[in-house]
This record gives sequence, C-alpha cells and structure tokens, in this order.
Amino acid sequence: MLKNKNILICVTGSIAAYKSCEVVRLLRKEDVNVQVMMTPSAQKFVGKASFAALTNNEVITDIFPDSPKAGLEHIEMALELDAIVIVPATANILCKAASGVADDIISTNLSVCEQPTLFVPAMNFRMWQNPATMDAVEKLRERGRIVMDPEMGKLASLHEGEGRLPAIDTIMNSIRSLFKHELPLLGKKVLVSAGPTREAIDPVRYISNRSSGKMGYALAEVARDLGAKVTIVSGPVSLPPIPEVEMVMVENAIEMLSALENSLDEQDADYLIMAAAVADFQPANPSGEKLKRSNIVASLELVSAPDILKTINSQTEASIIAFALETQNGTAEAKRKMADKGADFIVLNYANEAGAGFESNTNRVQIFSKSGAEKELKKDRKDRIAKRIFDFILLDKNR
Ligand SMILES: Cc1cc2nc3c(=O)[nH]c(=O)nc-3n(C[C@H](O)[C@H](O)[C@H](O)COP(=O)(O)O)c2cc1C
Repeated sequence: MLKNKNILICVTGSIAAYKSCEVVRLLRKEDVNVQVMMTPSAQKFVGKASFAALTNNEVITDIFPDSPKAGLEHIEMALELDAIVIVPATANILCKAASGVADDIISTNLSVCEQPTLFVPAMNFRMWQNPATMDAVEKLRERGRIVMDPEMGKLASLHEGEGRLPAIDTIMNSIRSLFKHELPLLGKKVLVSAGPTREAIDPVRYISNRSSGKMGYALAEVARDLGAKVTIVSGPVSLPPIPEVEMVMVENAIEMLSALENSLDEQDADYLIMAAAVADFQPANPSGEKLKRSNIVASLELVSAPDILKTINSQTEASIIAFALETQNGTAEAKRKMADKGADFIVLNYANEAGAGFESNTNRVQIFSKSGAEKELKKDRKDRIAKRIFDFILLDKNR
C-alpha cells in the first residue's frame, strides 16, 4: 500500500524527535520515498545526518537556503507529495498550522499543502491540555487534517498523563490509513444541475441571473471523486468541462427540465442535486427577429418558467438536495422550500454576503435535512464546502 509513495516527514522540536527516525526507517523498508524537513528546534534533539542517512535524501531545514536554486523550493516539493506526517508534532506546530502561521519551512509547507496530513503530537500533558492547543487540534480536525491523540503514560518529565508519542505501530497504521480512500458513492449515480438559465427575449437578448455554476460544478467533481457516476446538466457557464463527468449543456429552463428528465429516464439517480439557478419566469413569446428598441418594453410579457424540482421529484427515488439563495429570513425560507419542493436536504446560502453565494469562489452555507439535522459550514472554498456537504448528507443517511 505504501510502496513508491512520496511522503514528507516533518520533525518538530519535541524530546520524542528521535522516535521519528524509527518511523522513517520503517517507511523506507516499505519502499516509500521519504523527504524529511526539520525545524531548528528539532535539530537540537536529533541531527540532520541521521535522517539524511536513513532517507538517502538531503534534509530540508531552511526556508531561505544559503544557495537558493529556482527560488521556490520552499513550496515546490509540496506539489509532488502523496501525504505529510508531522512526527512528533509540537504544541507550537499544531497552533501555528491551525492559525495559518507560515514562519518556518514546515509551517510554510503546511499552509500550502492539501494532501492528506497526519499530526502525531507529543508533549507535556499540560501543553496538550492547554485550551489553545485543544482549540488548534479541533480546528485542524474540522478542516480534515488528522490529529492522533497522544498516549497516556509516563512522560519525559516523569509526570503521568496524556502526552506520549503514540506507539510506532499505531503511527504506521495511521499512515497506512491515509491511503485507504473510501469511495462511499461507488456504484451510485449522481445527477447535478448547475449554472444559470437564459430565457430568450429575442435572438440577441435574454433574461438570466448571476449564477456562475461554481458550486454545482464543485459538487459534481466531489461526487466523482467519491466514486459516483456523475451527470451534470449545466446552463451556460464559463467553467471548463469536468473530466469523467457526463456534461449536458442546456440554455433555458425548459431544456434543463427535459435534459434532467431524459437522464432520469435512462437511469434513475441515487442523488439529485439541484444547484442550478433556474429562471422563475420567461418571456411569453420570444421573438424570432431582433426587437426594435421602441418595441421591447411594450412586447415583453412574462410567464412563469417550469418549477423543475416540483415537476421531477415524482419521477425519481433519488435523495434530493435543493439549494436556497436568500437575502433575508434564510432559515425559515430554506425550511419552507425544502418541504414545499419535497427535498430531503436544503443548502442555504446568502446572495448579499461578501465571499458567498453567486459568482464567488467561496461560500458560507447552512445545510438542513428533512430529518431535522443541521450544520453551518463556515466560509471556505467552494470545493471544500462541496466535500463537507457530502459528508453531512452521507452521515445523515447513515444515522
Ligand atoms: C528538553 C525540551 C523538550 C521539549 N519537548 C517538547 C515536546 O515534547 N513537545 C512540545 O510540544 N514541545 C516541547 N518542547 C518545546 C519546544 O521545543 C518549543 O516549543 C519549540 O519552540 C518548538 O519549536 P518547533 O515547533 O518549531 O519545532 C521541548 C523543549 C525542550 C527544551
């Protein structure tokens, strides 16, 4: 499982630093390519030479090396890694990583890395129980980093308490489990609608909205990564197609409805995610010719566009995830909409909030389930929000 993986081992300044030599030795035995980074404090406990010999690699210790090569070595290796293990992890590095401090080679790399990351803490029991450390651990876990619990026992200070570096076997098993990718949606079909619709007034003008499609595309990509077969029915957006996802591009609400119906006819979905911002109304009689400026207002009659979700929810057994974009009374509106549309989940976001809603690369959402569970997902990149929406849905369904 570990063979030929590229793992970065970060050693920080704990008295348990010497034990990371054994972790490196065992990884090398399993043919792992190991790169070691050390903080200045770590080097007070173990010399670079031990790790260089064990890994057959130069040990990285400086954010500003004496003879910089291309100038970006401090982060460029982060791109090629399969996983990162901070062993031992001091209280200091836990707090810095949780706060995004990037003032040495290790914390700087942690601030740019999105690979699976395992922290293996070792410290005095009071340091572990320090509320600042506990907060940092909670924050890191919330963001998907794995932080092992230290073991109980006699500490270097001869005190008894929780703070010992976990046993080497336990650490090795945790490293292995970084590569056990779960595919909870394997064999499932996920149908996503995304983006805006354009309702033609004439051949050159249309009514639309500000949806960028970013949230729906992020959900489709996460569903694919979790093992699902994914189809996305997308209105006009300026996003690239998603590899390994069936893309069905449509223009208006009627086309979107029929594309979703066709997809459900071919194969019912397990999850139907309605992230598109479908127009509520459309011109009653779109003109085949470009309207004259003086005619437009007089000839523009609007009728309701089809309510897609209400129309198709009787045609599918899928779990339905709807979206509500509000500017006020969000919670009440979202819950009303979930019941009205027969959805199992509703994701609420706000149109009038900086860094959230349409167009933005980030979002802040609240998610509610029919079963009464709810969760707020703080402002984050849309791809990470998408992953956490799936975490919530899968947890709720397994309850
Ligand atoms: C003898 C000694 C042992 C230490 N052991 C630990 C430890 O086990 N865990 C810890 O979090 N800090 C420990 N520290 C404190 C850290 O070395 C110190 O907070 C340092 O700033 C950590 O820097 P780093 O996180 O950049 O490596 C120890 C310090 C000394 C002098």
